[in-house]
Amino acid sequence: MKTDVPYSQLQDLDRNRRGSSRQTRLLSRCLLPLVSVLLVALAALSFYFLLTLTAAATSSSSSSSSSNPDRSSPIVSGLPEKEQTCSDSCRVVLVESIPVGVEFNSSTAHPSIFQAWMSLMSEARSSVDIASFYWTLTNRDTGTQEPSAVQGETVLQTLRELSGKLKVRIAVNAPQEKQQEDLRLLNDSGADIREVNMKALTSGVLHTKFWIVDGKHIYIGSANMDWRSLTQVKELGAVVYNCSCLAEDLGKIFEAYWFLGASASIPSPWPSSFSTQFNKDTPLQLALNDTPSSIYLSSSPPSFCAAGRTPDLQSILSVMEDAESFIYIAVMNYLPTMEFSKPQRYWGDIDTQLRRLAYERRIKVRLLISCWSNSQPVMFPFLKSLASVHDPKSKLDVQVRLFVVPPNPGPEIKYARVNHNKYMVTDKVAYIGTSNWSGDYFVHTAGSALVVNQTGSQSEDPTVQSQLQAVFERDWESEYSTPLSQNTDLTAYC
Ligand SMILES: *[C@@H]1O[C@H](CO)[C@@H](O)[C@H](O)[C@H]1NC(C)=O
Ligand SMILES: *[C@@H]1O[C@H](CO)[C@@H](O)[C@H](O)[C@H]1NC(C)=O
Ligand SMILES: *[C@@H]1O[C@H](CO)[C@@H](O)[C@H](O)[C@H]1NC(C)=O
Ligand SMILES: *[C@@H]1O[C@H](CO)[C@@H](O)[C@H](O)[C@H]1NC(C)=O
Ligand SMILES: *[C@@H]1O[C@H](CO)[C@@H](O)[C@H](O)[C@H]1NC(C)=O
Repeated sequence: MKTDVPYSQLQDLDRNRRGSSRQTRLLSRCLLPLVSVLLVALAALSFYFLLTLTAAATSSSSSSSSSNPDRSSPIVSGLPEKEQTCSDSCRVVLVESIPVGVEFNSSTAHPSIFQAWMSLMSEARSSVDIASFYWTLTNRDTGTQEPSAVQGETVLQTLRELSGKLKVRIAVNAPQEKQQEDLRLLNDSGADIREVNMKALTSGVLHTKFWIVDGKHIYIGSANMDWRSLTQVKELGAVVYNCSCLAEDLGKIFEAYWFLGASASIPSPWPSSFSTQFNKDTPLQLALNDTPSSIYLSSSPPSFCAAGRTPDLQSILSVMEDAESFIYIAVMNYLPTMEFSKPQRYWGDIDTQLRRLAYERRIKVRLLISCWSNSQPVMFPFLKSLASVHDPKSKLDVQVRLFVVPPNPGPEIKYARVNHNKYMVTDKVAYIGTSNWSGDYFVHTAGSALVVNQTGSQSEDPTVQSQLQAVFERDWESEYSTPLSQNTDLTAYC
């Protein structure tokens, strides 16, 4: 490790840098003349009580969660819920990588992830923080002359130029299989790199993929820092511009990785600078594309979640629970097992939730799963089992389809041509994540997700939910997807 700063010192550094943390701001406000503060507080309090009374009187069926005692983190205890709004006017854009040669007969299309990363870099004025699994943005890894590597190479070149000018920090999984040339080049250009030894910390990997630019723009999604992720692998993510409240919260997840890049153990509990007030129960309220929205970030593994953070699995289960008519899931891998544990372990949390909701609440469940040469064979019997929960007479409606990306029109490229998406959309909300769906990813592996709730939208403009639903339906109906039934002969597909 490059840095060997003791834990307490790191905390101090952290505090100094984030001098404008919420607590500090609150504290400095309290230093205003005491009398006026007291007066304002008294007025606000009586107004708040008045409001609460009126609300209680007018609606007898007020939300049950508002009486939940543990809904606010220590930071905000005592503050009314309204404090959690954000005055930023944020803009969200879904972004996708569509592999070369893949064409949809559909008008549903989004800007590319390549465009998103280039636009984020062109916006950058002070800092770029990237959380990443591994780096191979140039075609040197295959030793071929693949024209579709140009985008990745352009991203690397641009990031190197920025590394000389701004504060560029990269958190990356360790140990790495081989020396990563891209990271050496970035380091030489001035980027600050920390390797997070996940194997030692949790026996998992750092699988997260997100960017934070200038503390106000973010990207999160399935794409790795791999040239294939821009042109040869199907990916989905979201960019949110001009959204410092959300970026600040994602920054806390980044700071946790950054801290662990210089630490041999995971703090327990995490210092309060890592805790959040935004979670599934008290999401951040803000205007997203001029639409009132509530939004939060979840994180895994649970040991990386500071106070207030919703663990990724709880986020997935609660998004499912909240659905009223459908749950659409597009993930690369879906396994009700711990994929990498020895001895083998069954892990049914997500699978059970889907079967339960299909049965108890007649929710329509659709899973679009990837099928390629590296798919784990054991995934398919479990998927067939889930797909058999289908019987119109009993109103059971689970269906599974396999998505196959056809081969590259040019020479064969290893570890490419797969649908790497990791999202879920229900009739209510959009969930955009970075994890494969098997036990390991929620227990040992670092991942994160963005949950967007615009159910209150009155706008004519499409919500993130409706856009993601259209992406799912486009892919589900496309020529690249095949229904999985008991007789499906997989060798014919993948
Ligand atoms: C594309 O979709 C339209 C309308 O859904 C359909 O009429 C047309 O036949 C489709 N074309 C191809 C090439 O599948
Ligand atoms: C990064 O560069 C510094 C010099 O600026 C060097 O000391 C360090 O060993 C380099 N680290 C890596 C991982 O290449
Ligand atoms: C951010 O907001 C500013 C001010 O409204 C605007 O000029 C700028 O274009 C926005 N940036 C992006 C990337 O949308
Ligand atoms: C979305 O927001 C609505 C209205 O505020 C709320 O009832 C619902 O529980 C939220 N759903 C999720 C998954 O957060
Ligand atoms: C997801 O799972 C596959 C298969 O186990 C694995 O190769 C891949 O690294 C995982 N992570 C990513 C990058 O999606």
